[in-house]
Amino acid sequence: MSKLEDLEAVKSKILTEMKCPLKDAAKNLVFGKGNPDANIMFIGEAPGAQEDEQGIPFVGSAGKELDKLLRSINLTLDDVYIANILKYRPPENRDPTVDEIYRHTPYLIEQIKIIKPKIICTLGNYSTKFVLAQFNIPNMKKIDGITKLHGKVNNILIDEMNFMVIPLYHPAAMLYNPNLRPILGKDFLEMEKVLVQKRE
Ligand code: URA
Repeated sequence: MSKLEDLEAVKSKILTEMKCPLKDAAKNLVFGKGNPDANIMFIGEAPGAQEDEQGIPFVGSAGKELDKLLRSINLTLDDVYIANILKYRPPENRDPTVDEIYRHTPYLIEQIKIIKPKIICTLGNYSTKFVLAQFNIPNMKKIDGITKLHGKVNNILIDEMNFMVIPLYHPAAMLYNPNLRPILGKDFLEMEKVLVQKRE
């Protein structure tokens, strides 16, 4: 089976077997977008209203900021794959609960295993803690916050897969705090350097 077919199979499992109250309240499943053969995978937190409406991650205001950041290092949707921790929108865009993370992340892990990215860029605290805790949810609280970890490269081995993990501030955060804009810009430039080294 191709990666696309494997991803479709995961999507079908979410639609048919996943149980979560968020699923009943949401308009659409927000699964992922981009190139399944990409070297870089971005992992956000959860869909917002626009994403819920369209069933596509990062199409709202945070998505527009992410697009600009990608363009700043000459990347397009063809070079990346983008998914979220939660596959359905939490009401009022509240933070994910531990129960929701347990219910949704088995499917995210399947997506990661299919895509096999060389670099995972986590956006914000939830995805950073989940990935750096090596998918071990109780250990997430032991991981530092994004303020301390952003822009630093981590090499991790999970289930015999080697990844470089680069935590980044969530692009939505700079909409509330403009001081984060230059920091994110700088972290993207660092990430570009890592990507170039990986290609060489
Ligand atoms: N924020 C996220 O974390 N994911 C989206 O898809 C949209 C906004």
